[in-house]
Amino acid sequence: MSQYYVPFEDLKVCRLGEARRALEPCSIVIFGASGDLTSRKLIPALYHLCKEKQMPPDYRIIGFARREKTDESWRAELRQALDQFSRTKPVDGAVWNEFAQHIYYLQGDLTEPPAFKRLDEKLGSFGSEPLRRNLLFYLATMPSQFGQAIEQLHAAGLLEKKETNGAKTWQRIVVEKPFGHDLESAHQLNRELTRYAGESQVFRIDHYLGKETVQNILMFRFSNSVFERLWNRESIDHLQITVSEDLGVGQRGGYYEEAGALRDMVQNHLLQVLSLIAMEPPVSLDAESIRDEKVKLLKSIRPLTPENVARQVVRGQYFAGKVDGELRVGYRQEPKVKPDSNVETYVALELFVDNWRWSGIPFYLRTGKALPLSASEVRVQFRPTPHVLFAAECGQDLQPNALSLRLQPNEGISLRFNGKVPGTSLAVRPVRMHFSYDAEFGAYTPEAYERLLLEAMAGDATLFIRRDEVEAAWKIIDSIRKSWDDKALTNREFYSAGTWGPVAADDLLAEGGRSWREPVILNHKEVKK
Ligand code: BG6
Repeated sequence: MSQYYVPFEDLKVCRLGEARRALEPCSIVIFGASGDLTSRKLIPALYHLCKEKQMPPDYRIIGFARREKTDESWRAELRQALDQFSRTKPVDGAVWNEFAQHIYYLQGDLTEPPAFKRLDEKLGSFGSEPLRRNLLFYLATMPSQFGQAIEQLHAAGLLEKKETNGAKTWQRIVVEKPFGHDLESAHQLNRELTRYAGESQVFRIDHYLGKETVQNILMFRFSNSVFERLWNRESIDHLQITVSEDLGVGQRGGYYEEAGALRDMVQNHLLQVLSLIAMEPPVSLDAESIRDEKVKLLKSIRPLTPENVARQVVRGQYFAGKVDGELRVGYRQEPKVKPDSNVETYVALELFVDNWRWSGIPFYLRTGKALPLSASEVRVQFRPTPHVLFAAECGQDLQPNALSLRLQPNEGISLRFNGKVPGTSLAVRPVRMHFSYDAEFGAYTPEAYERLLLEAMAGDATLFIRRDEVEAAWKIIDSIRKSWDDKALTNREFYSAGTWGPVAADDLLAEGGRSWREPVILNHKEVKK
């Protein structure tokens, strides 16, 4: 054995926040339970938490929706969906049987007080004070119904406003995105939610924060001295954040016509990744300290005046083309999309963070549907070496160092540096150092919702969006939308499905002598299966 070999058991794991995780018995009430989210994400996540023995010592799950169903018929429906959507297959029959006993269905309308009375009775019927009083309300409904649901819960005595976390029992509200469609509507939603609940009771979801690799950004930055000292304008030329998807909008045309890529992806997922990548170290690991820094970062983004938007933001829409050899219709031909729609399915933007660390360094963000592949990645492009020695001889061919954080798939991190090509001649080329989650930790990739539901039950808001955070993000988005106004897309803003977006996006970087780096997926075909 080589003297450099480190056996696994010598790699000490430092556990954080275990004590905080002690979960109390609670009931989870899902409003809008017959929707897609419940069967695709929430129930599979809760099933896996049960399988991994991470659920509280006692719990109940109550689906609340308008359609008529019994406990039994809902369980049967969920069981079937689990076969399709579970991340581990086959579904474990014994675990399911145990899990299913905790699931109930309550038919009711959000506007009717008697439905909430029935909910109260149902919670009381479990014969346990914690199951009746520790309540997680999951709002998987239309945002326009949030206010009503909260008001009814309050009126039925099920939701008590608390400004701090100190009380014996707790009630929390989990809110799905989209959180509003602009700053004004987000303000309005926040007002409605906090009328009957304290801010510490509101858990706004951005499922990207539940992803292991997104959480790892903070660990990576603040538990390693090597990288953090390079993390600034002295060493970095620019950063690229790419969230690409090979699918088009498919059946979600109705929603997408209202949202577009800017609201659907940039307002939340991309700005969240940006704030984690660029924020200052928080004073501690508690939720408020981390969120304080994220908000500060969002507020440091240089305001996008109409002139800046014209220069720094590119939108695009896909027309028919081939993705991975498969013919795809254009966006305007998708179901429920207007044939002359100007809604963007692609956005690329150049942002500047006007603070000491990042002054003058561009952050390039892009996201789109019907691109060649699905991959999320952050690329940190370091500055080139001085123009002497190898750089003087090789010119543009000598590539600067780059660090890629692969958020999905092939989760991992790669550092690119230059090395001598073995041989008698003097030649340099980039080589890479890879860290792969799979190779290091095995193929355990919990779904984002598992972590998020667990944290919501534990009452830890670190992975959820705070009120001022959501509002700061909308402010940025609003300034862009306002400049786009009703302007029709021009020819330069269309891209063929299966390509990396409109040419205008390439021009955005070309102006500074830069170019987009496409994410690389090892075994692309395998991943797609
Ligand atoms: C959702 C968007 O929030 O995120 C979708 O509404 C998008 O349009 C999805 O497809 C992407 O999530 P993920 O986890 O597949 O990258």
